Amino acid sequence: MEKMWAGRFQKALDQQADDFNSSLHFDCRMYKQDITGSIVHALMLARQGIISEEEKAQIINGLSSILEDIEQGNLTFDSGAEDIHMFVEAELTKRIGDAGKKLHTARSRNDQVALDIRLYLLAEAEEIGKSLKELLGVLRDLAAAHKHDIMPGYTHLQRAQPVTFAHHVLAYAMMFTRDFTRLRDAVKRMNVSPIGCCALAGTTYNTDREFEAERLGFDGITLNSMDGVSDRDFCVELLNVFAIIMMHLSRFSEEIILWSSWEFKFVELDDSFTTGSSIMPQKKNSDMAELVRGKTGRVYGDLMAMLTTLKGLPLAYNKDMQEDKEAIFDAVDTVKQCLSVFTPMIATMKVLPDNMLKAAQKGFINATDLADYLTKKGMPFRTAYKTVGEIVAYCIDHHTVLEDLPLATYQKFDALFEEDLYGEIALETCVLKRISAGGTGPDSVEKQIEFITEFIQ
Ligand code: ARG
Repeated sequence: MEKMWAGRFQKALDQQADDFNSSLHFDCRMYKQDITGSIVHALMLARQGIISEEEKAQIINGLSSILEDIEQGNLTFDSGAEDIHMFVEAELTKRIGDAGKKLHTARSRNDQVALDIRLYLLAEAEEIGKSLKELLGVLRDLAAAHKHDIMPGYTHLQRAQPVTFAHHVLAYAMMFTRDFTRLRDAVKRMNVSPIGCCALAGTTYNTDREFEAERLGFDGITLNSMDGVSDRDFCVELLNVFAIIMMHLSRFSEEIILWSSWEFKFVELDDSFTTGSSIMPQKKNSDMAELVRGKTGRVYGDLMAMLTTLKGLPLAYNKDMQEDKEAIFDAVDTVKQCLSVFTPMIATMKVLPDNMLKAAQKGFINATDLADYLTKKGMPFRTAYKTVGEIVAYCIDHHTVLEDLPLATYQKFDALFEEDLYGEIALETCVLKRISAGGTGPDSVEKQIEFITEFIQ
């Protein structure tokens, strides 16, 4: 295939160099955005009297037929083209002749590619936002179903204080609401049109960039043409959002993996989201959660790749920037894939509240509450903390737990202990009495559930 830029050259491009240079095999996924952008560009050119109405009609018909053929599988991406922009333009000219050669008036591939990738990512961001809300819906329902189920809350992966399963799940829900708003913020900043910046300096034609921006659904236009073609901040920002989503999914996955183990058995994943072993007949592995945890590394890598590609790039367009696509496409695909498996995996998982409660019962998880009991009777907290520490040590020595220690023994440690201590250290009380805002107490959990419900509306 002859290059569009062949005029200046004496020799054809070396085959290896041609393959190396081509981005068609990965940027072909932007064919729709490329065609949409070109249709709007033709509309603008005709509106401004730069091409005729007849040429506009020919271009739009030609582009529409290309779109239709691609979607119906009648037109495959010819690897001879350098990229999707060249592919579409060459195909258009093949179909409609000279009018096709006028489409590239007052634009460059530099603003064209910047436009296409923005349009593409805006659509993907919308999808990912929807998936996040779906996940939030599942987490809200899960929390609502387990408001009274007590489990150990951990610090250092040591049993720390009792919480409800609802409270634990809602912690993740809060993270995903922030991911959603981060995504929305990034979208707000990227939602300006670069088309019309041309190669780097703008154009001598009387174009109407606002018209194009409005037709394409943008909030406005990029104000500096050199920035418009060089900016890939939005890719970095989106990758950052994706990396954080993956980080949250990965932390949650780690807990699902732990909770699914025989050591915990707090949950059982549905058969449809687990796999077996090729040798050990008893195995039921949480591969999906492990893969989500593992794929987090790729998305971090994509973010690093993008930052590193852009580092030190002089203005304006440089071919290095073609490397933006594979990184961001990989991250988009990975995040979408992970969410599409993670959400139903959580929705179908069986929660085992009895096991959670059992795990909470034998770990001195109510020791803080015992110290608070003494403090409320007038003992300074530090003294109470020390006394309870001694009682815990005594219990460990005597193979017992706080609930089973007789009152007489308690009273040997301090006279402030009375019969009511047992009610105060019951796990239900520990949870019910955690009334501080944002705590695991029922009012706070209820408020959190309401917050998520409103958020996803
Ligand atoms: N395939 C290129 C990219 O992805 C399109 C822009 C090329 N512009 C140029 N002047 N070579 O970045």
